[in-house]
Amino acid sequence: MFQSGSPVKGKDFIDRKKHLPLFKAYLDNNQHIMIKAPRRFGKTSLIKQIFDYEKNYPYIYIDIRLNHSLESLSKQILDKAYEFVKIKNFVRQTTESLYSLIQSVKTISIPDIGEISIDMIVKKSEPIELFIHALDTVNKIAVEKGINIKLIFDEFQDITNLAEKHILEVLRSVAQHHENVTYIFLGSIESIMTEIFENKSSPFFHFANVIKLNGLAIEELFAYTKEQFDERNIQYDKEMLYKTIVFLQGHPEYSAKVLQTLYINANLENKPIDKQSCIEALNFRIIENRVYMDELISKLKTKKYHFEVVYNIANNIKSHLPSATLYNTHVSLENMGIIQKVDRGKFEIVDIFLKIFLQQHDDKMVSLDGKLHLEL
Ligand SMILES: Nc1ncnc2c1ncn2[C@@H]1O[C@H](COP(=O)(O)OP(=O)(O)OP(=O)(O)O)[C@@H](O)[C@H]1O
Ligand SMILES: [Mg+2]
Repeated sequence: MFQSGSPVKGKDFIDRKKHLPLFKAYLDNNQHIMIKAPRRFGKTSLIKQIFDYEKNYPYIYIDIRLNHSLESLSKQILDKAYEFVKIKNFVRQTTESLYSLIQSVKTISIPDIGEISIDMIVKKSEPIELFIHALDTVNKIAVEKGINIKLIFDEFQDITNLAEKHILEVLRSVAQHHENVTYIFLGSIESIMTEIFENKSSPFFHFANVIKLNGLAIEELFAYTKEQFDERNIQYDKEMLYKTIVFLQGHPEYSAKVLQTLYINANLENKPIDKQSCIEALNFRIIENRVYMDELISKLKTKKYHFEVVYNIANNIKSHLPSATLYNTHVSLENMGIIQKVDRGKFEIVDIFLKIFLQQHDDKMVSLDGKLHLEL
């Protein structure tokens, strides 16, 4: 209950009644999908829940951020693809013990493909060729086995750090021929994901169906919380609990953290959850994030106008910068994942804690043990 720190699944996974059925319907139709959401909004949790916990689909999960080159990414795809035909550590075996590997490749009955992979690794092919080959291998193995493999790329926006931008064109042109692979892309920086998947001139335009993951539904989260607290005989002021959840705007991680603090404190102090405890829990969790906020703010201050514009958005102040400057600053802040567009010319701070932080006018208030101005 209310786990934080790593992705959640199973009993810790709070249902997403709105997103899950749509996501599964796309999966059942082998429809390529792009899921976009801000940082810490539960993308990986959603994937873990469906693939790892419910185990309904064969899949390969790749976190692009954990790869330092296109070559390592391709090798990881190859390794996972060959696991479907019961060969472990394909790439390592290729470099270490070719002989025994060739024996097992001969048994996988996918004509030639194993040997081609070995050839490519031994000859140290161009990374881009190896990448195309890795994707083709996933499809060939899926065809051979008569299955559809879901190939999941987490933190997809980082792929352009591994290779030149034309990697997107390459991926798209290869992927469109893969009848037995469903591609799933997850990404955090909304504007970059939008640029890749929704810009008419992008090779990925219309390739995947887009699912935008919002925060957790307030009513669902409230119902789940009540159930958990009731089961454990925790007493609480319903209205205050509800207001706290509303305050957190469904932010999955911050909600998990604040609710966990409420639960722990109610237990430790052996008293019902009231307005005071809610404010204290929020206060504690926001202050806990202070170092991270400070870093973010310093980073904003190194870029011209960035801090000023973010500060104004948080405090509802109209910016008086020339419109071209304002426009460029907005775009840059969107690309950093700091703000998102809610309406024409209207932006909001993505991170609710950052927003509250920026609304504290007296710097002393935000000292480490400080009290924040919080209204519930
Ligand atoms: N469905 C959910 N039920 C309960 N808690 C959740 C849920 N989704 C997310 N969380 C909470 O949010 C935290 C972050 O979730 P997760 O790591 O899945 O997000 P993410 O979008 O993949 O983040 P990142 O951008 O860092 O990769 C989890 O550790 C958990 O506390
Ligand atoms: Mg993630």
